[in-house]
Amino acid sequence: MKITSVSAMQVLDTREKPTVEVTLISGEMVVHASVPSGKSTGSHEALELRDADGGMGTAIANVEGEIASLITSREWSSADEIDTALIALDGTRDKSRLGANAILGVSIAVQRLFAEAAGVPLWKAIAERGGFSAAAPRLYLNFMNGGEHADFRLPFQEYIFVVGGKTSEAYAIAQDAFAKLGTVLKSVLKSNFNTFNTEIPMGDEGGYSPKFEELEKPFELLAALVAEHSGTSIAIDAAANALRNDIGGYTLIGKDYTPDELRALYAGLIKKFPFHSIEDPFAETSMGDFAKLTAEAGEVIIVGDDLTVTNPERIKTAREAKAITAVLIKPNQIGSVKEAIEAVQMTRAAGWAAICSHRSGETDDTFIADFAYGVGAHGIKAGGLGQKERREKYERLVEIEKEAEAV
Ligand code: PGA
Ligand code: ZN
Repeated sequence: MKITSVSAMQVLDTREKPTVEVTLISGEMVVHASVPSGKSTGSHEALELRDADGGMGTAIANVEGEIASLITSREWSSADEIDTALIALDGTRDKSRLGANAILGVSIAVQRLFAEAAGVPLWKAIAERGGFSAAAPRLYLNFMNGGEHADFRLPFQEYIFVVGGKTSEAYAIAQDAFAKLGTVLKSVLKSNFNTFNTEIPMGDEGGYSPKFEELEKPFELLAALVAEHSGTSIAIDAAANALRNDIGGYTLIGKDYTPDELRALYAGLIKKFPFHSIEDPFAETSMGDFAKLTAEAGEVIIVGDDLTVTNPERIKTAREAKAITAVLIKPNQIGSVKEAIEAVQMTRAAGWAAICSHRSGETDDTFIADFAYGVGAHGIKAGGLGQKERREKYERLVEIEKEAEAV
């Protein structure tokens, strides 16, 4: 593969914050890739390079300067070979010299080029690259947004409706359930506040963001939807880093919890509602509390996100501590497709589930859908249905279902 042109531009994500889009040209092939951006980030994530004014000037200069010089200088035999060279060129542990956003944009575009050159769909190229059996992931739809993504109107960051099975059927169920939830929320808010102004605010990830003082209310609403559709369940991302108080515990809706009390709260919720998984139930520094909850959670999956940050070394440490039973995989937490694939392999080696995820600041790039299908992930988190950039990921999975039937 000879790459002849490398360029980048600044685009805006769903929060209207700058991010980077990369374009690569090789012969007749032209590919693009853009990179999402998180808000509730783990402290061990690779570095997103942003100028003092929030812009992408330096990241773009790095793509069009050093990175372009390297990757246009010779022929390449694989996407892995280019990723290895990019990681070495940066030379830091957290990609802070060139920027994980600059490197990942190029890395995703490179994966697209090699798939196109081989004449295979993107998901298939990813499956072959990592030695995975491609398969449809469960849809993890963030129906109600809270935490940092919605000014803490709800304490947990994500109240998720999980749908398994064939994607086209799962997506149809999700559409029906999301619309139903909107109708129910309107009537609940109307009776609570006796007002005609029943506009429900939306959170960053295209889910409804009502405000309830009762901690269990969102679960009652989700459980009602689950009761209507077999093969569905509830998940949360507690994103507990953001719930920490300064007395060594957590605060939810004005009430303080010690780590043990919070664990008891989760145990009660699991007992009462049809839970499938709980992500980041404790802060990223509290590996021991993760392990205690995992030991008593039974069938319910405990997921690491800020805890593990798609980093093979941190996944290994969590494995030794038996801290979790699933890992959230976000390519931009680590900064290259190669390392994201390694993180999935490490997760599988531990006997755990991989759940692939978008970020709260998204673009129209649907790479994560192909990635989730290609690695045969347990699930994909791509937000609620109230935002186009979220729906596009699920819709790409429905397209993949058709492609997979045809190839
Ligand atoms: P983020 O949130 O993209 O803002 O980090 C998503 C998550 O915590 O899973
Ligand atoms: Zn998370």
